[in-house]
Amino acid sequence: MKKLLNACALVLCAGSLSAADVPAGLIRIGTDKTDLILRVGDDSRVRQAYLGPKLVNAADLEHFSKSSGGTEAYVTHGMEDYFEPAIRVLHADGNPSLLLTYKDFTQEENDSVQTTGIVLQDEKYPFEVRLFYKAYKRENVIKMWTEIEHGEKKPVTLYNYASSMLHFGRDSYWMTEFSGDWAHEVNMEEQKLTFGKKVVDTKLGSRANLHVSPFFLLGLDAPVAENTGNAVIGTLGWTGNFRFTFEVDNANNLRLISGINPSGSEYLLPKGEVFRTPEFIFTYSTEGTGPASRDFHDWARKYQIKDGMGDRMTLLNNWEATYFDFDQAKLEKIIADAADLGVDMFLLDDGWFGNKYPRSSDHAGLGDWEETKAKLPGGIGALTAAAKKEGVKFGLWIEPEMVNPKSELYEKHKDWVIHLPNREEYHYRNQMVLDLSNPAVQDYVFGVVDKLLTAYPEIAYFKWDCNSPITNIYSPYLGADKQSNLYVEHVRGLYKVLDRIAAKYPTLPMMLCSGGGGRTDYEGLKYFTEFWASDNTDPVERIFIQWGYSYLFPAKATAAHVTSWGKQSLKFRTDVAMMGKLGFDIRVDELSPAEKQFARQAVANYNRLKPVILDGELYRLVSPYSGEHSSVMFTDRAKANAVVFAFNRNPRFSEQLRNVRLQGLDPQKMYTVAEINLMPGAKSGLAANGRSYSGDYLMKVGLPLFSGAHLTSTVVELSAR
Ligand code: DGJ
Repeated sequence: MKKLLNACALVLCAGSLSAADVPAGLIRIGTDKTDLILRVGDDSRVRQAYLGPKLVNAADLEHFSKSSGGTEAYVTHGMEDYFEPAIRVLHADGNPSLLLTYKDFTQEENDSVQTTGIVLQDEKYPFEVRLFYKAYKRENVIKMWTEIEHGEKKPVTLYNYASSMLHFGRDSYWMTEFSGDWAHEVNMEEQKLTFGKKVVDTKLGSRANLHVSPFFLLGLDAPVAENTGNAVIGTLGWTGNFRFTFEVDNANNLRLISGINPSGSEYLLPKGEVFRTPEFIFTYSTEGTGPASRDFHDWARKYQIKDGMGDRMTLLNNWEATYFDFDQAKLEKIIADAADLGVDMFLLDDGWFGNKYPRSSDHAGLGDWEETKAKLPGGIGALTAAAKKEGVKFGLWIEPEMVNPKSELYEKHKDWVIHLPNREEYHYRNQMVLDLSNPAVQDYVFGVVDKLLTAYPEIAYFKWDCNSPITNIYSPYLGADKQSNLYVEHVRGLYKVLDRIAAKYPTLPMMLCSGGGGRTDYEGLKYFTEFWASDNTDPVERIFIQWGYSYLFPAKATAAHVTSWGKQSLKFRTDVAMMGKLGFDIRVDELSPAEKQFARQAVANYNRLKPVILDGELYRLVSPYSGEHSSVMFTDRAKANAVVFAFNRNPRFSEQLRNVRLQGLDPQKMYTVAEINLMPGAKSGLAANGRSYSGDYLMKVGLPLFSGAHLTSTVVELSAR
């Protein structure tokens, strides 16, 4: 067997791994900065030998092939391991065990992306597990997923079916979770992991990330820091129930298991069907979370997010400006306001559909995707025409996976609704979830988008909402024996719909929204150009929320709107929203002439700075979690242009203010400082305004950007001469 592995290595390990680099019995998965080394033992079991910074001397790999330690790469239940397994199954004969040994492996590299597949098999049952690893070498990101398949006569029940399992042997482990609630997303909480398990999971089904997002930070040997120390950032690409298990064992080793949350989701796998788990995506940094985030952003823009390298449209949304209370004339006025502000698009939100049950509140209409005639006599067509006349694009809100019991769809198709046949319905936000495991429902949901785009090809954007978790969990379609497959099949059904939309409308931008940030995963973002970070648009809260998301997502993917939720100055609100994908959701007619002029100028500034903010590199300079001030900056790739945002929330009287030391600049370059986003007529109070400094000075000494004034902000643009 060892021989076979070596032969595979010789044949397949082209690219940067020369055959000589990989001694017999080892599998080397790696990026330019990280190595994950697996060893096939004499007992044919596959163990993780190493995970950490890239080993620079190929000759050192030899040491791994000679040693014998390490924990199995994909631990099974029922054998000699007594901690959490990656996989637990029940064969039809009642046997609950698996013992997986090496069968085969392949490895190939294309354009700096290395893909590895390892086949494991059980010796007693025709049961195979295939481990996959995709290493994005330049971006230092590794994806892991698993395929499970068997040839047993009767279905096998999968109780645990992890996407990934990784092992760490360190002195201490520090895990940061991103938890919260509606309008209170991604609160960062770090804790030391001690013996036993810490589980981060969700069981909400559809609005899955309402209480916790599918990502974490992990500090090895010390709490994470921005520019120092070993840190892992990890996430699961699954728009449904997920689970991360962090288990510290008796020897202070940590195993990290990710995957679909198996709770309520035992999966009945028939012979020959391939169960493919979602992807776990991680990066390992030896220089803290700053470089880790920048690697994640680069990877996401290049490989994962829909149109990740493309432009983004600024917009004016009407949700907070009108809620459900609008008509055609009001919307036409807002469309004109959008043009006046200089944004690219008007986005019509909830409340435009339903006739028998008009959508005049969240109690009715979901499912009936026809314009409410009484409200919009000219239909969407009149609105797209108005937008065209004003020179702005038109975007539309939909929530096609849901239904209000007060709707024609529910009356006609109760069989399409997830509900328990013999119990009273429980409604979340007065609505229910359609059964996407059912192909007829998939057709219907695809049809919502397809019909709208066929009737109104001018629709340039969708905001796709999802306000309810799965309630009353029972699929009328799946039948009594397959109910526990529903959570999985539902998400797969959603992807089938989204695949069809992507195939037919490949360039259509869409926002992933779920009652705020209820859906924030990277598989979802394959189909969406951005996500709605939170319904909470109070900029003080948004400073924290956007800071949290920035660990995983580039600004380009994080929609941020200027609204009236907070009562701060328009400048403060705008400065915060400019750190993301900028939009407005305000009553433009209530702005003073000076505010309007400010907003227009801010949009123009944003358009100029898009290459820096949306496609550049993010540096988190001062954390809002550390006090009443915070700051982030973005630089472009050439380090020629940068923009720095600095915020003062509620500083104490007579507080000692420190300079903000910048990062990511070229020490040799000279940068001119210009304060931007000033109210018309206001003069910059910054002594540095208009002066030039070297990158070296700006990074070592910094600029006095903070002040003691409450709820104030400063934005400076740096341009290299
Ligand atoms: C929840 C979203 O997060 C909001 O932005 C808005 O679109 C409402 N739904 C509409 O019902």
